[in-house]
Amino acid sequence: MRDDFANLNSETVDPERRQRYVAELFDNLAHKYDRFNRWVTFFRDDTWRRNTVELLDDQATGVILDLAAGTGNLAGQALKAGSRQVHVFDISRAMLAQAKSKLSDKNNYTGKVALEQGSANFLPYMNCSFNGVVSGFAMRNVFHFLDDVLNETFRVLKPGGRFAILELSRPETSLLRLGFRLHMRTIMPLIGRLATGQGAPFKYLYQTTMTFLSPTQFKQSLQNAGFVEIDFKSYLLGGIAIHYGKKSQ
Ligand SMILES: C[S@@+](CC[C@H](N)C(=O)[O-])C[C@H]1O[C@@H](n2cnc3c(N)ncnc32)[C@H](O)[C@@H]1O
Repeated sequence: MRDDFANLNSETVDPERRQRYVAELFDNLAHKYDRFNRWVTFFRDDTWRRNTVELLDDQATGVILDLAAGTGNLAGQALKAGSRQVHVFDISRAMLAQAKSKLSDKNNYTGKVALEQGSANFLPYMNCSFNGVVSGFAMRNVFHFLDDVLNETFRVLKPGGRFAILELSRPETSLLRLGFRLHMRTIMPLIGRLATGQGAPFKYLYQTTMTFLSPTQFKQSLQNAGFVEIDFKSYLLGGIAIHYGKKSQ
């Protein structure tokens, strides 16, 4: 893995180069990703993912897009919640391969799962295709073209469709923010190294978290994309947020 992953979040990096690197970063991490995710979230990830799918409300049983799905954990939760079809979309082939083996093991999901590779700023779906869009820990990775991603999310949702986005956040108070920053800078890379044997991706994770939008700023971006009834729920003292809302009828 290349050393310059750590500086990937810099404004000076060419967007295409950044995207190739991000895909490579997750290709390299894919086989250890779930373990890292489990450890770094103190085994809360499944619960937060279930909460995310629940926020789709009555749309959860329809056709769902898991955007930047990685190893397909949110897709799995959507299937458990009764979704009739799930599209698992990601830029990294290796992450999709993990998702494929995980979801195809479950026989009762046969025919309900479609995997597609691409970048979230150009979705290969018709307008108004989905009842719900979920996404987990991915928005920071597309921060440099976030408006395009949110516009695409809006476009592919049916009128009345709902979205729920699980993401790292930043606590509101300065003391908690300091604790969070320390955790992200010291403990999280340590857990990352133990879980995956790699170091550079976690510098990137730190940078993307520290430069991502606050919940209020993210709400504004969601409003700009056209969503309504936007709100968020916080977990882990504000270190995690699920943003949700809908496309009006
Ligand atoms: C931190 S992982 C999250 C995976 C999964 N959503 C989860 O909840 O664990 C971020 C994912 O975003 C994907 N990703 C990064 N940039 C992307 C892009 N431009 N388009 C689609 N997926 C992208 C990565 O390949 C990776 O699988």
